[in-house]
Amino acid sequence: MGEAASHACVIGLGWGDEGKGKIVDLLCADFDCVVRYNGGANAGHTVCIGDQTFALHLLPAGILHDGVEAVIGPGVALDPASLIEEIDTLAQRGRSIDGRLKISSRAHVVMPYHKIEDRISESEAASGQRIGTTARGIGPCYADKVRRHHAIRMVDLLDATFRDERLPQIVATRRETLRRLFGSDPDLDVAAIVDDARVWSERLGPMVCDTTTLLENAMNAGRRLLFEGANGCLLDIDHGTYPYVTSSTTSAAGIPTGAGVPPRTVTRVIGVCKAYATRVGEGPFVTELTDATGDWIRERGHEYGTTTGRPRRCGWFDAVATRYSARLSGTTEIALMHLDTLSGADSVGICTAYEIDGTKTDRMPCDTRTLQRAQPVFEMHPGWSESLRAAKSLRDLPANARRYLDRLQELVGVPIRLVSVGPERTQTLRLDR
Ligand code: GDP
Ligand code: IMO
Ligand code: MG
Repeated sequence: MGEAASHACVIGLGWGDEGKGKIVDLLCADFDCVVRYNGGANAGHTVCIGDQTFALHLLPAGILHDGVEAVIGPGVALDPASLIEEIDTLAQRGRSIDGRLKISSRAHVVMPYHKIEDRISESEAASGQRIGTTARGIGPCYADKVRRHHAIRMVDLLDATFRDERLPQIVATRRETLRRLFGSDPDLDVAAIVDDARVWSERLGPMVCDTTTLLENAMNAGRRLLFEGANGCLLDIDHGTYPYVTSSTTSAAGIPTGAGVPPRTVTRVIGVCKAYATRVGEGPFVTELTDATGDWIRERGHEYGTTTGRPRRCGWFDAVATRYSARLSGTTEIALMHLDTLSGADSVGICTAYEIDGTKTDRMPCDTRTLQRAQPVFEMHPGWSESLRAAKSLRDLPANARRYLDRLQELVGVPIRLVSVGPERTQTLRLDR
């Protein structure tokens, strides 16, 4: 048995898009294996290497490191068509995955009818009931997983008898259910889907294996694992701003089940958050700025969705929500992103408490209706005008930016170890203080 290695995870502390892709890519230089354990193609993780930008949805972001093995765990909702497209796009750009990708035979498959159902349920919902999903079929796929009767896992997809006999029945039943639910005939051709399933099986089959055993062996051999969280803690199915959440466990608590490793595997939890807050889709957002300042942050930070291109809602840093999600995941260190985006603001705000029905609290309410009534209590800090893009260490930052970081760290209660001042790998300060 090899020497005990320390394993880490990168998780988003907000409502997604915190910059997890950049941090995973950065840290992967020190890891042997990167593992996705939740979500699916709703994720959009950006990695910038020199003048090249990659947006990864199902492929773990660490795959861009040649020596790193990448695993898609059992907890991922896997859309085969989307994954194959991603692999092909990378190959066209000269990036081969070279047998380094392994897919869990237990992962559930996102089928075309899941995407149709996701899209129609959103468009049919009354405006106040919409979640604002990414329409990637995530909710319907996880619902089938829990309901079980019609669920399809990667191991099923690889089984020719299943594809020929059971799959046509499932697709026909789902077509009928959609017709009854929404009254229109969904565009679902049973024979074409069976054909596609065969192609998916041929393309992805060689990568499918028991990743639980693979990870156990890797750990026993002293290899270091980095778990890549998708979405963000505030979108967690149990602990997020329900029902305006995604359908998986997005916190570090999702790792043991979603990856198939023992609960105490991860000792280092890197929580990623921006120097401000963003959200895409519906749901409460206490610190949202619906004025010119919010627009200014969006334009400076290029806050448009990586997966859907939707403009992201922007607001000041929410210390109440971030402290909540940091504690939920047992965060040991913070990667603070987009500090450069705030250059040029006269003042920058931090929400230190919520005022709800006349009472002040610094605890996150567990009920979304209560959260919707919360008013932010802002503490304003003087801004800085200097560009931070070329900063290499804390000393290169203006005093006001340093004071801002100190205050964020104090409020969240977790040390900031990385500060990001631009999208590229090199635009990162490592703090040892
Ligand atoms: P993820 O889903 O958490 O991986 O984040 P996304 O990739 O969806 O969104 C983060 C966006 O911010 C991407 O376009 C990144 O290239 C960009 N980004 C990451 N860190 C920084 C930073 O420190 N400064 C700036 N200006 N952009 C950043
Ligand atoms: P990454 O990994 C931002 C949001 C959607 C919607 C809600 C439910 O790039 O940070 P879903 O399609 O999952 O049923 O949508 O969750 N959402 C994300 N927002 N980044 C993501 O992923 C997200 N994944 C889901 O916008 O509000
Ligand atoms: Mg994203």
